[in-house]
Amino acid sequence: MGRAAAALLPLLSLLLQVVHLYVATAVGAGGNAEVSVLMELKASLDPEGRVLSSWTAEGDPCRGAFEGVACNELGKVANISLQGKGLAGAISPAVAGLRSLSGLYLHYNMLSGEIPPEISNLTELSDLYLNVNNLSGGVPPEIGNMASLQVLQLCYNQLTGSIPNQLGLLKNLSVLALQSNRLTGAIPASLGDLTRLTRLDLSFNQLFGSIPGKIIQVSALIVLDVRNNTLSGNVPSELRRLEEGFQYENNSDLCGVGFPSLRACSSADLVNPSRPEPYGPGSNGPSPKGIPQSANIKTDCSNNTHCTSSSRSSAIPVVIGLIAVVAGVTALGALGFTVYRRQKQKIGSSLAILDSRLSTDLTKDVYRRSASPLISLEYANGWDPLADGRSGVGFSQEVSQSFRFNLEEVESATQYFSEINLLGRSSFAATYKGILRDGSVVAIKSISKTSCRSDEAEFLKGLKLLISLQHENLVRLRGFCCSRGRGECLLVYDFVANGSLLQYLDVEGNQDGSVLDWPKRVAIIKGVARGIEYLHTNRTSKPSLVHQNISAEKVLIDHHFKPLISGSGLHKLLADDVVFSTLKASAAMGYLAPEYTTTGRFTEKSDVYAFGVIILQILSGKQKASLLRLGAESGKLEDLIDENLQGNYPRLEAAKLAGIALVCTAEAPSQRPTIAAVIQELSSSTC
Ligand SMILES: *[C@@H]1O[C@H](CO)[C@@H](O)[C@H](O)[C@H]1NC(C)=O
Ligand SMILES: *[C@@H]1O[C@H](CO)[C@@H](O)[C@H](O)[C@H]1NC(C)=O
Ligand SMILES: *[C@@H]1O[C@H](CO)[C@@H](O)[C@H](O)[C@H]1NC(C)=O
Ligand SMILES: *[C@@H]1O[C@H](CO)[C@@H](O)[C@H](O)[C@H]1NC(C)=O
Ligand SMILES: *[C@@H]1O[C@H](CO)[C@@H](O)[C@H](O)[C@H]1NC(C)=O
Ligand SMILES: *[C@@H]1O[C@H](CO)[C@@H](O)[C@H](O)[C@H]1NC(C)=O
Ligand SMILES: *[C@@H]1O[C@H](CO)[C@@H](O)[C@H](O)[C@H]1NC(C)=O
Repeated sequence: MGRAAAALLPLLSLLLQVVHLYVATAVGAGGNAEVSVLMELKASLDPEGRVLSSWTAEGDPCRGAFEGVACNELGKVANISLQGKGLAGAISPAVAGLRSLSGLYLHYNMLSGEIPPEISNLTELSDLYLNVNNLSGGVPPEIGNMASLQVLQLCYNQLTGSIPNQLGLLKNLSVLALQSNRLTGAIPASLGDLTRLTRLDLSFNQLFGSIPGKIIQVSALIVLDVRNNTLSGNVPSELRRLEEGFQYENNSDLCGVGFPSLRACSSADLVNPSRPEPYGPGSNGPSPKGIPQSANIKTDCSNNTHCTSSSRSSAIPVVIGLIAVVAGVTALGALGFTVYRRQKQKIGSSLAILDSRLSTDLTKDVYRRSASPLISLEYANGWDPLADGRSGVGFSQEVSQSFRFNLEEVESATQYFSEINLLGRSSFAATYKGILRDGSVVAIKSISKTSCRSDEAEFLKGLKLLISLQHENLVRLRGFCCSRGRGECLLVYDFVANGSLLQYLDVEGNQDGSVLDWPKRVAIIKGVARGIEYLHTNRTSKPSLVHQNISAEKVLIDHHFKPLISGSGLHKLLADDVVFSTLKASAAMGYLAPEYTTTGRFTEKSDVYAFGVIILQILSGKQKASLLRLGAESGKLEDLIDENLQGNYPRLEAAKLAGIALVCTAEAPSQRPTIAAVIQELSSSTC
């Protein structure tokens, strides 16, 4: 017995060794399997190995060694974040081997080739960002199997073919962005099954047929963009609910009731099933093969009874819509911000989370090592100074989060910073018009990172200050977004409808109503004064602040002709040399107080000087301020005041304003009044 046991012992230990070895290789193979997938992926994404040099067969992707790779707690690759890296290869089908992948961010590269259908094996993937590349081929129908998908971004590629019906299976999808491709065919009615969809962008493709009536079932929908396609037929009137969120310009032949730029449908649009729909029943078009099951080839109104009742009842929604608009406008002033915030939380939560992930979790580890020599600024946190709500400079988490936009939101608002939306460009910033998900219109100022202060604490302090500024005569900052990928800081402001004061100067004739009447001029002067006074005053919520760059261009005019000062506090974000270059411009325009050239300092009195120049410009309707002052001093009021007014102004008030302008532009700062004194003078008006 003892001998038998002794004989067995070596055998047993051998067995144990084998088991141990087996376990070891099994575990090792698990890790290696993902590494080898990553190496395959690298070979295809970055064939020349210039970008992903940190991805090596010996490395451990879960120890932060692989640029852009983040693992979950089980040691599996969870996110790959390589947006804007200049990758010029293709997407390997091998990516399907990363079974735990939840986010794949490859946007803003130059990837070409097709989207491999194998990608559909990634059933845990919630975010697929392949937008702004050069991908061709079709949208693989297999994507319909990716049940976890929440955001599918394929826009700005060269994708062809039709939109697969199978996308209607993606029950958790909240954003589907397919715009600016070359997609043809109809809009699949199955998209109406996507109950969580908030944003559907199909614009700038070659889609045809009608907008499927079923789309109105998507109650979460906020934005539906179908611009620049070849769509036709009846637009479901329920889409008016989306207000500005529904965009439909530049289609072949859409019609509908209650949409400003659409003609009313004729009976041909509504009933005749053989007419507008390509390849619809009765048409002689090509066979429907390859065309997705349409888009309600017959519209909702193909049924006569239903149709009549719907067009008759449509007067009621119009009235309700009108009331809603009026109520909305009234409420906007007071509630706009809260409503917006709430909505943002509600609808954008997945996106907000998404982008904070993108810019916090990943960037923290990933970007630190990838400092580019081209970018002088490299904040510790990957150029998203407020990402984790650090309170070092007195930001509460709540405040910073409520002001943070995610890049995706800003990108889609501006159609990826499309030139069409460019409002203007200066030496350090470009400003784009944009429409947010909630339909509100914004102006987005994008400041290159290299123009920003290089000291993080200073920059944060500047942002904090900007956020704290809230006054009815300042353009409202709604939020910001710092994008490492784009190397830009993006400031999101309310869009102001009527342009800048500059547009009302040097006007000839009054064909377009651009000559301001006298009461408007006075109101603008008073409003600008109040805005400046707010800036100059020290309050618990904000320190006193000198604007430094007030000019007619910085005074924006809203649709009630209320002036809103823009650019307040901006210099606190900008690098000194950038600030200097903006000063040169304002000096050239005559706004720069004379003492600046000797002292090199700005004070409240230099703002007062610029304000005086603005008064002169408003009174005279002319830009050339330096000449104006001479004219005003020489004493003849008639020579100063804008002749477009044809004498329609109270002389006493005009004289008083001209007087204020003159003291404000006095040579010596000590002779200029404070803005508070100016306001007192303005309101003590006896006229
Ligand atoms: C990856 O992104 C997911 C969601 O896509 C996020 O919840 C998670 O925190 C990220 N994981 C890692 C390890 O960064
Ligand atoms: C992935 O899915 C495709 C079908 O789309 C299937 O043919 C293939 O075997 C799968 N590949 C992997 C690596 O699982
Ligand atoms: C995009 O891909 C096409 C081939 O599909 C190629 O001809 C073209 O040069 C690519 N464009 C860019 C900018 O890489
Ligand atoms: C879809 O979302 C719901 C709620 O967020 C979640 O419970 C469910 O697991 C998701 N489905 C998939 C397949 O991810
Ligand atoms: C939109 O479509 C029109 C033709 O309908 C075309 O002329 C225009 O260039 C398109 N706009 C853009 C930005 O592609
Ligand atoms: C519509 O097309 C015209 C040219 O045909 C273009 O100028 C305009 O920008 C387009 N509008 C939109 C919203 O794309
Ligand atoms: C028309 O629609 C109504 C309800 O919308 C339905 O009851 C009726 O059967 C339909 N008639 C035809 C001919 O489809």
